[in-house]
Amino acid sequence: MSLNQVLTVEQAAILLKAGRLVALPTETVYGLAANAFDPIAVAKIFAAKDRPFFDPLIVHIADFDWLPRVVRDFPTLASQLAKRFWPGPLTLVVPKNDDIPDLVTSGLSNVGVRLPDHELMRQVLRKAGVPVAAPSANPFGRLSPTTAEHVRSQIGHRIDGILDGGTCRVGIESTILQVEGNRVTMLRPGGVALEEIEQLVGKVEYPAVTPAESPVAPGMLASHYSPRTPLIVVDAIPSTPPWPRTGLLCLQMPDEVAAYSGVEVLSDEGDLVIAAANFFQGLHRLDGAGLDGIVAVRFSPQGLGRALNDRLTRAAHGTKNRAGEQSSSSS
Ligand code: TXA
Ligand code: MG
Repeated sequence: MSLNQVLTVEQAAILLKAGRLVALPTETVYGLAANAFDPIAVAKIFAAKDRPFFDPLIVHIADFDWLPRVVRDFPTLASQLAKRFWPGPLTLVVPKNDDIPDLVTSGLSNVGVRLPDHELMRQVLRKAGVPVAAPSANPFGRLSPTTAEHVRSQIGHRIDGILDGGTCRVGIESTILQVEGNRVTMLRPGGVALEEIEQLVGKVEYPAVTPAESPVAPGMLASHYSPRTPLIVVDAIPSTPPWPRTGLLCLQMPDEVAAYSGVEVLSDEGDLVIAAANFFQGLHRLDGAGLDGIVAVRFSPQGLGRALNDRLTRAAHGTKNRAGEQSSSSS
């Protein structure tokens, strides 16, 4: 089988069983998958992504009845959340069972587990017969992939194949919730909005800052999801663009954009769900357009706007550190 071949479901399953790395589509973003029970296969994920070993991986299951293969304990609240939002863009962090190698969880006693809402992905898992550990299929810290082409161009040469499932429907990563007894903590905002979660389980804690010494979810690292092009986040579009060739990422088409060299409008109707689906694609296009910088307009902080602002703030972090005061860090 040649490198980077576009795979069938059967081929993807055979490769996974053989300890190889394949990129699989999910409804959120493409994942870089390996057999979750095989520590050598899992180690290859970290190598392919240049990912630090302190950053744990999410384990994906094909069906609810696979849960005991991954978790030791599933609190009642976790069960309620799973019943309501699975299959779907929600990861639950709960005690892991002994079969999950420590490498998957970076030595933590908890594992992040998710039942994705993507038929092709679930077919592969059923055929392979094993849960897969799968981070987003991008180099560490870079933009997440929402098409097979994003995967191919970023890390295609480092993996054994890609299953092309088209464009990811949700477009941003899962919401991560840690569940301990009656306590639910949001480690990362994502494809399920906080409002929907709180309707089901009441108040959810959302720590603003992760203690630097123990990043529970390195997706919360200050710098993450970054384009190579400098990026700043604004509340209002500057009439004079800050760079000679500046790109603009915004929810709806503004009145005056002539001064901008590239514009990505995420949803004509201002719909945050559609904006999320287009978000990483828009950023990938701007990042590939040879611009000097990108101006991104902050979203209203409701629904998926919270997750989108989270991604923008982290995408801007490196630029902010280099350029001083230009971007604001709150969201
Ligand atoms: O939508 C998604 O979640 C995608 C698709 C492929 O499923 N996956 C994804 O994986 O975004 P990744 O590795 O790019 O981000 C997962 C985040 C990381 O920040 C990691 O630290 C956190 O989940 N995480 C995983 N296991 C954890 C655990 N046991 N405790 C705390 N955080 C965990
Ligand atoms: Mg990621």
